[in-house]
Parts: sequence; structure tokens; C-alpha cells
Amino acid sequence: MYPLIRNVLFQFDPERVHEFTIQLLHRIAHTPLELLVRQSVPTKPVTCMGLSFNNPLGLAAGLDKDGECIDTLGAMGFGHIEVGTVTPRPQPGNDKPRLFRVVEAEGLINRMGFNNRGVDYLVENVKKARFGGVLGINIGKNKDTPVEQGKEDYLICMDKVYSHAGYIAINISSPNTPGLRTLQYGDALDDLLQSVKNKQSELEQRHQKYVPVAVKIAPDLSDDELIQIADSLVRHNIDGVIATNTTLDRQLIQGLNHCGQTGGLSGLPLQSRSTEVIRRLSLELNGRLPIIGVGGIDSLISAREKMVAGATLIQIYSGFIFHGPRLIKDIVTYI
Ligand SMILES: Cc1cc2nc3c(=O)[nH]c(=O)nc-3n(C[C@H](O)[C@H](O)[C@H](O)COP(=O)(O)O)c2cc1C
Repeated sequence: MYPLIRNVLFQFDPERVHEFTIQLLHRIAHTPLELLVRQSVPTKPVTCMGLSFNNPLGLAAGLDKDGECIDTLGAMGFGHIEVGTVTPRPQPGNDKPRLFRVVEAEGLINRMGFNNRGVDYLVENVKKARFGGVLGINIGKNKDTPVEQGKEDYLICMDKVYSHAGYIAINISSPNTPGLRTLQYGDALDDLLQSVKNKQSELEQRHQKYVPVAVKIAPDLSDDELIQIADSLVRHNIDGVIATNTTLDRQLIQGLNHCGQTGGLSGLPLQSRSTEVIRRLSLELNGRLPIIGVGGIDSLISAREKMVAGATLIQIYSGFIFHGPRLIKDIVTYI
């Protein structure tokens, strides 16, 4: 059924289709129409970051940025859903068009730029949700906050989402917010992680609840940089690492439609690079903190490859766009 629907949807502008689908999923939540997307998947329990997950597969950040259709997405069988990236204040994101399909490669290029309605709006939606799985909330900084003050934005968001989140993801790897990726290096990273940990302790006391914090990293890092990041995450007792975000590399899509568009590339062309990052991270971390693997998962085998490389949990985004909800069932059933 989905291939047919996809053929129709792919005739239209990607972002319009996205908005339409989010609206639709939002409207059918808790109505009889929800049955159209609901599917039962077997339970495959996993423990990660001290949390219990019904299965290892989650939805990656960026699809439901404002948390508008958490329950409908949950009905499709995800063990966890990561909403966001959300910023302290609402912002429109970059100029359109900013989302492109590289159909021949099953890839997407996006330069959305954290378009979102702000953390308060997200929290209201999260409060209404009844999803029984784990809800991750992915946070970032506003575009107009200077990167040197970016830390403050993460702390504001942490404060607001803490009591509503299963885990919090710190996004320092989007290529579409100028300067954001510089937070992945050296003193800037140490300083951010230190502040995030202090905030986590303060909030743990206040809410009498420990909410794990994971850091999401880019695939465009050298081995040395990866080792330094892993070392920093361990030193600061971060609870998990999400690898990876989208790539700036275009090698695998040379000559294809939209190859020249600025932004982050996801989907199949990212698959092997993100698996490689997971493998190297896993060697370095040696089980000291868990890895959430994401990037180009489009099948059971590519999901297994991520887990063999060292991921405890996995996430999908582009594969979900190209293959539909059936991919969730195929992966969870046999993983
Ligand atoms: C349109 C689009 C928007 C995204 N927005 C975000 C975001 O807001 N925050 C984030 O951490 N990752 C975002 N991502 C990255 C995904 O979460 C994921 O890390 C990446 O796409 C690789 O997974 P995939 O190959 O399964 O898509 C976005 C990806 C796409 C395609």
C-alpha cells in the first residue's frame, strides 16, 4: 500500500507533503482512523541509559519537531520517539525550498534550520501525549543566539523539558545552524557538557527523577576528533551518544538531482559512514556509554549492521519516508 501512496506523495513538494502528513497524523490521533496506521509489533525489550524500551527502534529527531503527532507515530510501533529539535524561542528556520529528495539514492537533503514553535509549545503537546514508549526530547539553540552563548539556550530548554522527557538529546551536530558544530570540539564541548551535567543534577534534585542526557554528533568527524569527543563524553558522565546526524559529504550522490543543494544529507548515502562512526566510537567507548545508531537504516539488515557495529538502540528518519511504517514492523519483528 505504501509504495502507491509514496508515488502520489512524491509528486509534490517535500516540505508540503511533510506538513500535510504531520497535520493528518495529528488529526487522526485517538480517532477510529488511527487504525489505518496502527500496527502491532512484538515486544523486544532493551535497557539503555537506565531506561526500559519496548524495542530498540525509535524515530529520529526532526520529523515531529513540535511533538504534534507523538501518539499516532507511537501507534506504528516505535519503541521510542525523539521529538525536536526545539529551541527556547520559536523560529521560522531557513528560507524555502529547504528540503529535497534525492530519489535515485534514497536520500534527503535538508537545510531546515531548526524551524520550530519553541519549547513551551512542544511541552504543551508532550503533556497531552499518551505514548507508552520512551519519549526523547532533542534540544538546540536559536539561530540568533551567538554560539558563545549557545550553552544558555540548552540550559533553558533542559529546565523546561526535564520533567516531561524520558531522555534529553543535546543536538550539537546540525549543519544548518551556523557555528553549531563548533560545540563538538575541545573546550567548547567540555564547557557545554559540564554545564549540562550541573543542570541535570540540579533538576534531578528538584524533580526527584534522573533523566539521562545523550549527545548527538555529526558523521563528518575525523578519527582523532571522534576519540576526543568520546573521551569528553566519558569524562563528563554523559549517559549516551547518538550517532549520527546528517552529512555534508556529497561523494555518493555526485551527478544526481539536487546534489548541489546546501544542507545535510541523510538516507542511504549516509548509511555506511554512520555505521563506521558507530564502530569507531564503540571501540573507543568499550561499553562505557551506550550508542544510539542512526543514519541510512532502510531494512532489517542495515538495522542489524548498526547493532553489530555497537549500537544499543537505533533510529530511522529517511528510511521511514522512503519505505513507510512497514519498515518499523520488518525491523522490530526480526531484530
Ligand atoms: C528533514 C530532516 C530534518 C531533520 N531535523 C533534525 C533535527 O531537527 N534535529 C536532529 O537532531 N536531527 C535532525 N535530522 C537528522 C535525523 O534525525 C537523522 O539523524 C539523520 O537524518 C540520519 O538518519 P536517516 O538517514 O535515517 O534519515 C533531520 C533529518 C531530516 C531528513
